[in-house]
Amino acid sequence: MKKYVPEPFRIKMVEPLKTTTREERIEALKEAHYNMFNLRGDMVYIDLLTDSGTNAMSDKQWGGVMVGDEAYAGGKSYFKLVDAGKDIFNYAYIQPVHQGRAAEKVFFPTIIKKGQVAISNMFFDTTRAHVTLAGGKPIDCVCQEAKKPSVYAPFKGNMDVEKLEQLILEYGKENVGMILMTVTNNSAGGQAVSIQNIREVAAIAKKYGILFNIDAARFAENAYFVKIREEEFKNSSIKEIVREMFSYADSFTMSAKKDAIVNMGGLIGIRENAELYQAIKGNCISFEGFVTYGGLSGRDLEALAIGLYEGIDDEYLRYRNASMEYLASKLLDAGVAIQNPAGGHGVYVDANAMFPHIPYYEFPGHTLCVELYKEAGIRTCDIGSFMLGNDPETGEQIKSEFEFARLAIPRRVYTQSHMDVIADALINIKARASEVSGYRITWEPPILRHFQAHLEPVQ
Ligand code: F0G
Repeated sequence: MKKYVPEPFRIKMVEPLKTTTREERIEALKEAHYNMFNLRGDMVYIDLLTDSGTNAMSDKQWGGVMVGDEAYAGGKSYFKLVDAGKDIFNYAYIQPVHQGRAAEKVFFPTIIKKGQVAISNMFFDTTRAHVTLAGGKPIDCVCQEAKKPSVYAPFKGNMDVEKLEQLILEYGKENVGMILMTVTNNSAGGQAVSIQNIREVAAIAKKYGILFNIDAARFAENAYFVKIREEEFKNSSIKEIVREMFSYADSFTMSAKKDAIVNMGGLIGIRENAELYQAIKGNCISFEGFVTYGGLSGRDLEALAIGLYEGIDDEYLRYRNASMEYLASKLLDAGVAIQNPAGGHGVYVDANAMFPHIPYYEFPGHTLCVELYKEAGIRTCDIGSFMLGNDPETGEQIKSEFEFARLAIPRRVYTQSHMDVIADALINIKARASEVSGYRITWEPPILRHFQAHLEPVQ
């Protein structure tokens, strides 16, 4: 078992958790139509639904909240945020927006034309949806190593560079609107992307004149992986690695609700293209709000400016990664299969390995989420066929490359003993896995269905 690295902080404010009985949880599941997003938060003991916006802010960030400048235009918190963004990413233009999908909504229509494709190492679900809403077609192009969960590889988040070039030739470069690199690769398991891979992808983007955008939600965790796994960067600071990573792209869209350790916020970064910045300013004013607040309160801008630096702190990232490794090693020691290694923001449990008898259209990942809630009041979410949804052209359920239950760990929120509860719950489920059956959908909306769909157990 790997060693737990003690928290580099202490707790100043607590939020009591409610415990529930198994009977209460079974009732709550029925009321929620077996959809984890429909469960009431106060019925959850350990909430691993997402690491997004669920992070604990520091005393400095809360202090910042009190001095946030609420001016409609030109507030000082805006300038503080822009300075932090320019300093960390070394980009000329930084635009705040209210969250990651807002960045996508504002930015993608300025780049992707109707009928074009966008190619990614893997799209996150809202990112995929915003490519579609802009009139484009999203294509995933992750490396082969990612597809074998049990086999360790250091950079399972990488793009399959050969396939990327083939796709560009197949569709024609004029029909490819964007190449997008998600760091870390959330849908593949929070997996790392190497700088070497970013360089190769950037070279292809340049060769064919295609815009290269980074989906930067977990940029700091990715930089930490680069530091510990990519020889060339072992002596670099996290900030140097971040600057190197971003130097190869033209732009980034970012949900700040992850690595910037805030509850709300997002950013768009443009490396140097002033015209592009002008275009996004127009969309930002229409959809989000004036340029200098972008859908956020002044206090949010202030907390975000501070959080960007806290998120790239070496000590914090070492502890953060070690807590994932600790949980992953407990599971591996007990024979619970995961996407190996642990991701930057969570551990992805391989539900195909846990439930080989449940087919993709009965959602093994989602089934494991339901079992974890029943077992210990732990809420997680499916990263698999249930999340992927139906093919927009045929209406058929898509078979995902993976069926994961994602244990997404909020930042600075849970302790080692919570990790132990999570591991024990999974080990108990594994012992009775062959008795568990899957789920079917009884109602679903047309887009991003997993957030709202109703399900029932397959008898
Ligand atoms: N890109 C990635 C890689 C994400 O993981 C997310 C959100 C977004 C974009 C959208 O950002 O939520 O701020 O609008 N991921 C969350 C998750 C919701 O649970 O993984 P948002």
